[in-house]
Amino acid sequence: MQVENSALARAREYETKQQKLRDAAVFPIFHLRSPAGWINDPNGFSLYEGEYHLFFQYHPYSAEWGPMHWGHAKTRDFVQWEYLPAAMAPDQDYDCEGCFSGSAIQDGDRHILAYTSVCFEKQEDGRTKVCQTQSIAAGDGYNYSKQNGNPVIGAGQLPAGSDPENFRDPKLWKENDIYYIIAGSQDRDKTGRILKYASRDLIHWTFEGILFRTTEKIGRMWECPDYFKLRDKQVLLISPQDMQAKGLEYHCGNGSVYFTGYEENGAFIEESRGCMDFGTDFYAPQTLLTGDGRRIMIAWMQSWDIQNYPPEFEWRGMMTFPRELSLQGHTIRQAPAREIEQFRKNKVRYDNFCLKEKTCFADIRGRVIDLTVQIKKINCSSVEIRLAKGGGHYISIEYDAAKKTIIFDRKYAQCIRDIVNERKLNLNPDRDTVTMRILMDLYSVEIFFNEGEKTLTSLFFMDLQHDDIEFIPYGGSCVLDIEKWDINI
Ligand code: FRU
Repeated sequence: MQVENSALARAREYETKQQKLRDAAVFPIFHLRSPAGWINDPNGFSLYEGEYHLFFQYHPYSAEWGPMHWGHAKTRDFVQWEYLPAAMAPDQDYDCEGCFSGSAIQDGDRHILAYTSVCFEKQEDGRTKVCQTQSIAAGDGYNYSKQNGNPVIGAGQLPAGSDPENFRDPKLWKENDIYYIIAGSQDRDKTGRILKYASRDLIHWTFEGILFRTTEKIGRMWECPDYFKLRDKQVLLISPQDMQAKGLEYHCGNGSVYFTGYEENGAFIEESRGCMDFGTDFYAPQTLLTGDGRRIMIAWMQSWDIQNYPPEFEWRGMMTFPRELSLQGHTIRQAPAREIEQFRKNKVRYDNFCLKEKTCFADIRGRVIDLTVQIKKINCSSVEIRLAKGGGHYISIEYDAAKKTIIFDRKYAQCIRDIVNERKLNLNPDRDTVTMRILMDLYSVEIFFNEGEKTLTSLFFMDLQHDDIEFIPYGGSCVLDIEKWDINI
């Protein structure tokens, strides 16, 4: 593979030069983050030769979105990431405006990447139009070459009504010697649909049909589909743009939705759906299957609409901590990948602590922690947990016992922008106790409610010395079980 003098060589060289910047930055401890510049969606999350690889949408040259490269990292435990040189740059006519999101599989000894190639096309009236097509690259876990014959799926293979400017994010898999791709698409009437393609050689692809669309509107363009089996159900994940809030289930803007169901005659039949995460910063999740059969999901820990990184940070972007998915009935549950447990130190535990007034525990504090709180015997109207507290600043998780609702609020987290700070979610009304597992890593919090039946992910950028944790009962008392671990790498 030729990387000298190319856009890819330039990106790799620039990454190396950024080492100084990296040494000065205070990065999260156990989350994948940008190696330099900007990152967004996870791409090509896959098991290759016994290691987990993750690529990501990447603009190394600034802290803003720009012509998309694929950045690259790998891990054996989802905690410690080795950052590798960029895997792809937008260096071909057909992808000169960007190598957009996609996926990866191991095929024999090759690591195959499927991605969206973006360019501009001149039209007869002289105006230019975005052209999104699907392309293939292959490599050895370090270097990747784009396949001759790219792009392999183009506007000519779109069904009637599909908009060629919004056709992206291929999810690739192989079954019985046939390769399949599903990709997100938008109808000309601006509703989302998922298209399915098949190929025997990765070069010639045929349109198989529309895998899924809905009669009611769920946002507009459906981005970043993933499709996999979980127990006996087929699961489809999509990230629609331009959604509208529905009760507390979905918020406005980009959201991530899961559907469970089954496939019949080439079409996915929906049985249930739900919101993948209720926080302010979660988008474009994708999954892989581990060697021991676990379905692990990772997502971009940010929102397109809310930018609240401190301007002095020269890097932008983190991924969620990888999460194990399981199915209970029709609900997808999420739990932090169990590998995190090898990195937990300094356990502190309180059992049956009667919370009657505002309480801080000298040994329960920290900004890089795995904290589980169970709230029981609730004889108060609400209970609040303040995290990262100091100097009058904190983030708040409040449980309203009458409504069985969680209110997350980060407005006192030293934020200097007028952004969305609050999210609410309903918990299972049939339960009398609430469990929250809280993973905090310097600038982020990921909360798993009631064994992961709902999750909430949010970023906050506060001075790092603010690390107290306070528990406050309102209008009575309750009983708490608390377990805290530091994450130490
Ligand atoms: C989702 C997305 C994808 C696209 C990529 C571009 O966040 O808009 O649909 O491939 O980002 O960076």
